[in-house]
Amino acid sequence: MSRPPESFVRETIRPLAAYAPPRDPAPVPLHLNESPSDLPDDLKRELSARIEAMDWSKYPITDGARLAADLAQAYGVDPAGVLVGNGSNELLQLLLFACVEPGDQVVVASPSFSLYGLQAAALGARVVEVPLRAGNEFRFPVQALIAASREAKLVLIGSPNNPTGTTLTPAQAEELAAGVPCLLGIDEAYRDFCGQDFLPLLAGNPRLVLFRTFSKALAAASLRAGCMIAAPALCAELRKIQLPYNLSALTCLVARELIKRPDLVAGRTALVREERERVARAMRELGITVHASGANFLLFEQTRRPPQELHAALFRRGVLIRSYPIGLRVSIGTPANNDAFLAALRAELP
Ligand SMILES: Cc1ncc(COP(=O)(O)O)c(C=O)c1O
Repeated sequence: MSRPPESFVRETIRPLAAYAPPRDPAPVPLHLNESPSDLPDDLKRELSARIEAMDWSKYPITDGARLAADLAQAYGVDPAGVLVGNGSNELLQLLLFACVEPGDQVVVASPSFSLYGLQAAALGARVVEVPLRAGNEFRFPVQALIAASREAKLVLIGSPNNPTGTTLTPAQAEELAAGVPCLLGIDEAYRDFCGQDFLPLLAGNPRLVLFRTFSKALAAASLRAGCMIAAPALCAELRKIQLPYNLSALTCLVARELIKRPDLVAGRTALVREERERVARAMRELGITVHASGANFLLFEQTRRPPQELHAALFRRGVLIRSYPIGLRVSIGTPANNDAFLAALRAELP
C-alpha cells in the first residue's frame, strides 16, 4: 500500500493538537479577548472609499515598508528594526522558524499562550516550562526564568500574560533582559491595557524582541496586523525568509490610519480598565478568586462548581468564556455584556 499523505508531515508536528479557540457562536462572546468596540463608522466609511479607489491588481510592493516606517516613527525607533506581519503571531512564527533548530531549548512561562510552545515544538524545540504559580497567585519568577535560559535559544513570554493577566514590572523586565543570555521575546499584545512599554529597554538589550498587535486595544483583529521590534541586524536576517508582500495593501492602508489615531486607543482602553475593575470587584463580592490582570481579561477560580460545568452553564445562558485547566478566563466586553456575564454568574453560583 502506498504511504498516506499525512505520513510525510514532520515527526515533530504529527503529535501536536491544533491551536483551536472555541468558535461556537454566542450572544455574549467573552472568549477571545477582542475589543468590545469597533472602529468609528465615519473612519470605516472613509477607509472603505480609499480601498475602493485603489488598484487591486497590483502587488503591494512598498506598503509593508511604509507601515513599518510609520510604526518606527510612532515608536521612535530605527525602521530597520521593525518587521510587520499578518498579526503578531506570524512574526512570532518567523522568529522561531529563523532561529530554532531541532533540539534547541525554548523557555516559556506556564501557563501562557499555547501558541508559543506549539510553534516551538513543531520545529523540534525542547519546550521548557517555568511555572508562574506561587501559592494562590501567579507571578513571574524572574530568577527561575534566567536560570532556565542558560542553555536556551529563546525565552518567550507574554506580558501581560495570557491567560493569567500577570504583568512584568519595568524592574523585572530590566532584570530579565540583563540576565537572559539568549534571545528574549516579550509579547506585548495586551500592553495598552496597563500602559506597559518595554521599548526603552531595547537600546541597552540587543537580544530583546518585542511583539505588538493591532488585534486588541487597536480594535482591528479582523485586519490581521502586528509588528516585531528588535535589533536591526536580527530583523535583517528574518527579512531574508519573510514572504514577499506578506501584508495586503488593504491591511497596510487601514493600519497606517490607525497609527494616526491614538485618541481612539486611549478612550477604548480607559473604558476596558474601568470595566475590568468593576467586573473583578463584583466577582470578588461573590466569593470568587480573581487574579490580578493588566490585560483585557480576568482569570478566576472558584470551588463551588467544577469549572467545566460552570463554563457549560454560562454558555447555556448565552455567555461564552474560556476554560483552562487552571481556571476560567473572561474577556472584558461592553458594559452590557459584562453585566450579562455577572448576572449569569450570580444565577449559576448561588
Ligand atoms: C498572547 C497573545 N499574543 C498575541 C495575540 C494576537 O495575535 P495576533 O496579533 O496574531 O492577532 C493574542 C490573541 O489572542 C494573544 O493572546
